[in-house]
This record gives sequence, C-alpha cells and structure tokens, in this order.
Amino acid sequence: MKLRTAMTFVLALGISGVAYAADPIIIKYSHVVADTTPKGQAALKFKEIAEKLLPGKVEVQVFPNSQLFGDGKEMEALLLGDVQILAPSLSKFSKYTKKLQVFDLPFLFDDINAVGRFQNSAKGRELFTSMEDKGIVGFGFIHNGMKQFSANVPLYTPADAKGLKFRIQASDVLEAQFKAVGANPQKIAFAEVYQALQSGVVDGAENPWANIYTKKFHEVQKFITESNHGVLDYMVIANAKWWNGLPADVKKGLSQAMEESIAFGNHVALTEDDDFRAKVIADKKAAVVQLSAAQKQQWRTAMKPVWAQFEGEIGKDLIDAALQANEKAAPAKKEEEAKSKHHSKK
Ligand code: SIN
Repeated sequence: MKLRTAMTFVLALGISGVAYAADPIIIKYSHVVADTTPKGQAALKFKEIAEKLLPGKVEVQVFPNSQLFGDGKEMEALLLGDVQILAPSLSKFSKYTKKLQVFDLPFLFDDINAVGRFQNSAKGRELFTSMEDKGIVGFGFIHNGMKQFSANVPLYTPADAKGLKFRIQASDVLEAQFKAVGANPQKIAFAEVYQALQSGVVDGAENPWANIYTKKFHEVQKFITESNHGVLDYMVIANAKWWNGLPADVKKGLSQAMEESIAFGNHVALTEDDDFRAKVIADKKAAVVQLSAAQKQQWRTAMKPVWAQFEGEIGKDLIDAALQANEKAAPAKKEEEAKSKHHSKK
C-alpha cells in the first residue's frame, strides 16, 4: 500500500512536471521611453505578434519608462538573465563595442533616410554581431530620429553653447562633441533628465522630437534649436545564450515577431517625427530656433574634429560607409533633375 502511494506521488510529480514545462516562456522587454514613442510602440507590437504566433508558448511583458531597469543597469540585467530583450540607444553600447559609436559622430548623416541606408548596408548589418563575444545578439535597428539641441538660451552658433552644461547619454563621443564647442557635458540617466533640466543641474540637452514631447522636456527648456546634428536610434538585442537555447519553433515565431515589430517601429518613427515636432511647437512652451545654412555650417565645423578623434576606435571603413549612405541619394536626385529638365524642354 505504502509502495502504491509512493508510486502515485512519483507519477503525479511526473505529470505536474510535464504541466510545468508547458507554462509559457516569460519574455521581459524593458526600455526607458514612453509607450507612444517609436521604440515603445515597437515593443508593444512585438508582444502582440509574438503572443499571436505562439499562443500559450510565450508571454511577453513590456516594461516602459525605466520601470524595470534604467540606463546603466539594463545591460547587466540582460547578461544576468533578469530581462530578455532590450533596445538601448546606440549611444549606450560603448562598454560592449566601440563600433556603434559611429552613430554618435556629429553631422555624419544628412538625415534619417541616410541613417536607414547605412543601417541596411552590409557594413551596418555586420554591427548586429559586433557584441557576440560579450554574449549579446542584435536583431535590428529601430529609428527614433534626428536630435535637436535645447537650452534656456537660443543656440544659434557654437559660441552660444560655450560654458553651458548639457545632459548627455553615457557616450564619450557625445562628451567630445559638447567639449568641442566649449560646453560642459554631463552623463545622466534618461529617467533623471526632466528633473536635471527643471532644477538647473544642467542648462540644456539633445533629443529627438519624440523624446522631447513624451517626456515634456520642452516644458523645462525655453528654446529648441532645430539642428538635426545627430541621430538617436536603437539596436534590439537579446542575451545570446538565452536566444540560442530557445526551442526551434519558438525561435522561429519570435524572429518573425522581431522583424515585423522592428519594421513597424521604423514606420512609426518616419511617419510620426513631424507630428511630435508639431505637438512641441503647438504647446508654445519652448520657442523653436531655425538655423541658417551658414550657422549650421559653424556647428559642423566646430564639431567635426570629433570624427578624427574617434576614427581609431570606430574604424575608417565604418565612417566611410556611413558617408556613402549620404551620397546614395545622389543618383536618384540626378535622375529626378534629368527628368524635370527633360519635361521642361517639352
Ligand atoms: C532612449 O530614447 O531610449 C533614451 C535616450 C536618452 O537617454 O537620451
């Protein structure tokens, strides 16, 4: 009798073991921005698609606004397995690879389309494996947008920034960028930026429109200079060991969810950047400063020495490939010009 009880217990354990293994795989996707930003929307789209493709097999938990981990802690958490997916700003990877610093070089890209062309090039895609030796796998880039300077004084020329304190992300390139114009950069986590601007710990910052609007930075800055001087984009990453250990069917479904959600995030970024800009302007809290071509050239000239400073760490090949992405528009432009000449002759 006793033996039968023991056997029943063992069987029950076995059965419950099977039931336990069938529990959904919990996937935590953590980020530091609002749900309505391109990255925020991409993360929610990933959840929607992944759970639809793998019903009962995965549960995706999205944590926006630094709720689970903020800057500084999130990468460590990924490597410890406390979170499975992140999409940090490309400025926050220098501990793991110096190559991504290419995205921080000021005035390297003409616009967000050039950034996209570089990201989709062979050189750009190679960057997904640039942190393999650190146990990190990259899946794709998500745009946020081009960055704008902000401060409590209007910034027309580099001389206007001299002596001001600017909040920057944890990037040595961005530090050099502000030092190049005689300003004082300070590395501060994203979750603390509003407070730092409001309390005067720093005088200014640099952000794309989506972050300015969703975090209300324009309410604590008197001026925003439409400088488009650099880019703030993301790489979606996972812990390579976790990813490689997933069952094949789960990996397949998640790969599809990853691809589609990244495309969705990029679509949001490209189509909503103007809306975020318009909302900031409509709020009338900060005045938007426009630069003349000559003023923009002054900023470019002052900041460009940063390229040479970091060329050794980044690699000339990557910088050249990024510059080529600016030029790729030229043939299309030339074609258009030729067409319009042809039409005007008719
Ligand atoms: C983010 O967009 O993820 C934050 C960027 C920042 O720290 O400025």
